[in-house]
Amino acid sequence: MGKALDGVRILDFTHVQSGPTCTQLLAWFGADVIKVERAGAGDITREQLRDIPDVDSLYFTMLNHNKRSVTIDTKNPEGKQVLEALIQTCDVLVENFAPGALDRMGFTWERIQELNPRMIVASVKGFGPGPYEDCKVYENVAQCAGGAASTTGFDDGPPVVTGAQIGDSGTGLHLALGIVTALFQRTQTGRGQRVLAAMQDGVLNLCRVKLRDQQRLERTGMMKEYPQYPNGEFGEAVPRAGNASGGGQPGWILKCKGWETDPNAYIYFITQAPVWAKICNVIGKEEWATDPDYATPAARLPRLKDIFAEIERWTMTKTKFEAMQILNKYDIPCGPILSMKEIAEEPSLRKTGTIVEVDHPTRGKYLTVGNPIKLSDSPTEVRRSPLLGEHTDEVMAELGYSPEQISALRTAGAI
Ligand code: COA
Repeated sequence: MGKALDGVRILDFTHVQSGPTCTQLLAWFGADVIKVERAGAGDITREQLRDIPDVDSLYFTMLNHNKRSVTIDTKNPEGKQVLEALIQTCDVLVENFAPGALDRMGFTWERIQELNPRMIVASVKGFGPGPYEDCKVYENVAQCAGGAASTTGFDDGPPVVTGAQIGDSGTGLHLALGIVTALFQRTQTGRGQRVLAAMQDGVLNLCRVKLRDQQRLERTGMMKEYPQYPNGEFGEAVPRAGNASGGGQPGWILKCKGWETDPNAYIYFITQAPVWAKICNVIGKEEWATDPDYATPAARLPRLKDIFAEIERWTMTKTKFEAMQILNKYDIPCGPILSMKEIAEEPSLRKTGTIVEVDHPTRGKYLTVGNPIKLSDSPTEVRRSPLLGEHTDEVMAELGYSPEQISALRTAGAI
């Protein structure tokens, strides 16, 4: 079966996480992704957080599936010529260098347009234009600058970053959407364009509900679904909300059977209004269904702490999976806190290709996260990440270089 992005050639100048997540997605949708790396070194993540000596790290392998790797020294004049040939034959250049690095290499937007007016140049940067535009940025900087850290954690503790890589992988997703959108517009205009996804913007987009709450707070001085209500204090900015739900249906994380020894024996429990009577039945508090102090969402808001404590008395008598089974029977929204071990071993995720086992020539078998976006006419087959420079000769031959020319360029240190 063909793939959605068959025929699209991506010049992948990305490294670390944000850019590689984007180009990996495009590769999974069928694009030919040619990753350009420095000979001898490659993407720095090849050697970061290694668990096996001298073998590409999981950090690298899990972000670079289905790509080809070529080595080019883009600061070498002959290397630059190879890069120019690639720019002329590719549809999209994706990069996440520090600000200005591509220009310093000599590949300004104007120069790229001269070489290929259809080229889409897509960049991840830490910040958009403004006071921080020249800054280098990693994941947690973006989480802090995009509003995630100040709104995550508990009221009496410091700001907290989340394990979900919303700054890197989140921005990679934003960039991928920008690229396919620009490819679509090019079918009408015939022209390339620049696509920018700034990590601060990406994180803020994912923290949209917190900007909603900032404005609610400024207007009303309080937010009744936050744990600060009714006894705590609200300041000028959106406070950290612990495990409170970000939506209109109050929720909290509750202990389940075994919590004393298992750090993940917890369940997320949502007191969704339409199923309130069923919740009361399940936890043995039938009277709450009609008691005016508990019967309506508004009446419950100042009592949420006590309500969740009562529900927890029930959840602590069940394992998280037993609780799930019972609550789901009554359509009560809830979710188990799953450990990475439980997720890795979950058969249904293997079945759907969300968790995939991949074989690698030097690493052996390892698990990865497959394509989370499933297209019925463009299924994803996850292929291992390339070794450094594995496809240099192949890609050079496609560009018209003879074996002798390739060997001369290698001797000159250009590839
Ligand atoms: N041949 C020759 N030189 C190459 C090359 C190649 N194939 N590939 C990269 N380089 C050079 C670049 O031109 C740059 O040189 P310069 O600084 O002399 O202009 C240099 O390698 C380093 O690039 P840089 O991006 O500055 O790497 P870094 O390791 O110092 O910084 C980041 C890493 C992630 C902080 C930075 O790239 C960044 O802020 N990126 C944008 C935001 C981002 O994506 N952050 C998240 C990463 S997960």
